[in-house]
Amino acid sequence: MYFPHYEKCAALFQPITVGRMHLKHRIVLAPLTRVRADEDLCPTDTVVEYYKQRASPGGLLITEATEISPQTISSRNVPGAPS
Ligand SMILES: Cc1cc2nc3c(=O)[nH]c(=O)nc-3n(C[C@H](O)[C@H](O)[C@H](O)COP(=O)(O)O)c2cc1C
Repeated sequence: MYFPHYEKCAALFQPITVGRMHLKHRIVLAPLTRVRADEDLCPTDTVVEYYKQRASPGGLLITEATEISPQTISSRNVPGAPS
């Protein structure tokens, strides 16, 4: 991996244990609402592609939320399982 300021940021590349997870580095993706579900709130292939692009061995990605009821839906194309 190319990282221009590796020397200054070497701590980011040290392993760390977070709860039961043993991470190989400390660069973590925060949850972000990506609005890539279809009209039925089901994740699409672009969701798979998005997280594949950001995944790395031993890394941690926190995915976006899943809407659990019609009342919680904040915008179109967010993933959800409303009953
Ligand atoms: C379910 C969920 C969805 C989120 N979606 C977004 C988002 O779409 N855009 C955003 O800027 N932050 C979003 N956040 C907040 C980010 O994860 C992050 O906490 C925020 O950007 C502040 O980061 P910072 O403290 O590093 O500035 C979301 C958080 C959660 C829990």
